Parts: sequence; C-alpha cells; structure tokens
Amino acid sequence: MSKVMTDEGLDLIFRGARTHTVWLDKPVDDALLKQVYDLARMGPTSANMCPMRVVFVKSKEAKEKLKPALDAGNVDKTMAAPVTAIIGMDVHFYEQLPKLFPHVDAKAWFKDLPESVLEYIALRNSSLQGAYFMLAARALGLDCGPMSGFNNAKVDAAFFAGTSVKSNFLCNLGHADPSRLHPRSPRLSFDEACRIV
Ligand SMILES: Cc1cc2nc3c(=O)[nH]c(=O)nc-3n(C[C@H](O)[C@H](O)[C@H](O)COP(=O)(O)O)c2cc1C
Repeated sequence: MSKVMTDEGLDLIFRGARTHTVWLDKPVDDALLKQVYDLARMGPTSANMCPMRVVFVKSKEAKEKLKPALDAGNVDKTMAAPVTAIIGMDVHFYEQLPKLFPHVDAKAWFKDLPESVLEYIALRNSSLQGAYFMLAARALGLDCGPMSGFNNAKVDAAFFAGTSVKSNFLCNLGHADPSRLHPRSPRLSFDEACRIV
C-alpha cells in the first residue's frame, strides 16, 4: 500500500476543495454523517480530550430554530444546505477524561481551572477537530461551507441549553454546484508564511 495519498486524494481534500455556498437538492444520508464523524474523531487532541460535540441540523423544524441566529448573509445558503453541522465544544470536556485518557488522572489537570481557561482549551481542540471534520467530509465526497457569521449565544440557547456545550462554528454540508463558485482567492506562499530555523 502506498504511504502517501494519491494526487486524486490530495485534489479532493485540498487543491480542488472549495468553500461552497450554492447547494444542489440532493439529500445526505445519516449513515454518511456518521462515517464523517467516525473518521474525524481519530484526529489528535490534547490529552485525547475530544471536546467537539456536533449537532447535525437537518429537519425543516431544526433549520427554522437555527435561522434567527444566522447573520443575514448566511441565511439563504444555510437554509438551502441539506445539512448544517453545529460544531460545538464541551467546556467541561474533563468529565470524559477517565474514559478517554485512562492511564493517568488527567481529569485532575483540568477540572479546577477557571471557565475562561477551559473554554480556551476547548476552543483550540474543537477547532482542530472541526478541521478534521471538514477534511473527513471532503474525503467522503461531501462539500463544506464553514461559517462563523452567527450569534453564538442564540445557537447555544436553542441547541445546548442546560449543558456545558457551546457553539464554535457552523458548517454547511451537502453536494454543491461548482459552477457558481467565484475564483479561488490567493493563499500566502511558503516564504510569506513560514520560516525554517
Ligand atoms: C471558521 C470559518 C468561518 C467562516 N465564516 C464565514 C461566514 O460566516 N460566511 C461566509 O460566507 N463564509 C465564511 N467562511 C468562508 C471563508 O471565507 C472561506 O473558507 C475562505 O475564503 C476560503 O475559501 P475557499 O475554501 O473557497 O478557498 C468561513 C470559513 C471558516 C473556516
């Protein structure tokens, strides 16, 4: 078996992958969403804390619940997307550490930290997991449309009330219409963004 990904795979998840906003009316099976999560969960997090929690907003009723929290520019594309994943983070991720990192008492490292520090840690690690999630979705043939243009407090009240989970970002998922994309914006070159020391 080759130890590097094929060019076709690299095109699928990086070079040819875009942020999509125009969605085809093609459903996404729940089984595929489960496959996306099952791949994404394998990516590394600090002390294997896995703080990401995902709500897949799929039904008309749930989409209507999300709608008032969206920035105006994100409403139409989100309502048209077959699925919108709310990428959340459990700020009390340490409760799962006896299961997720069982060889030491890792819960003790985190449980008494201030909420703001816990949130900072959860944000870093759930953002990483959110990126793994998008790569997994693309690898399985789904298109992604990540968004941070929404009211976090409203999403938290609508979907995470009474829990220690907070929203991080949203990601529309489905099969997109590539003919409607604007040209790709430039990226920084290696020399602009990196140093080898
Ligand atoms: C965390 C995050 C938040 C974003 N928020 C929004 C948003 O609220 N609305 C939107 O239209 N695009 C949003 N974008 C899309 C970015 O503008 C887009 O990913 C970027 O320009 C790269 O586009 P490309 O993947 O097509 O090259 C967001 C992307 C990310 C990763």
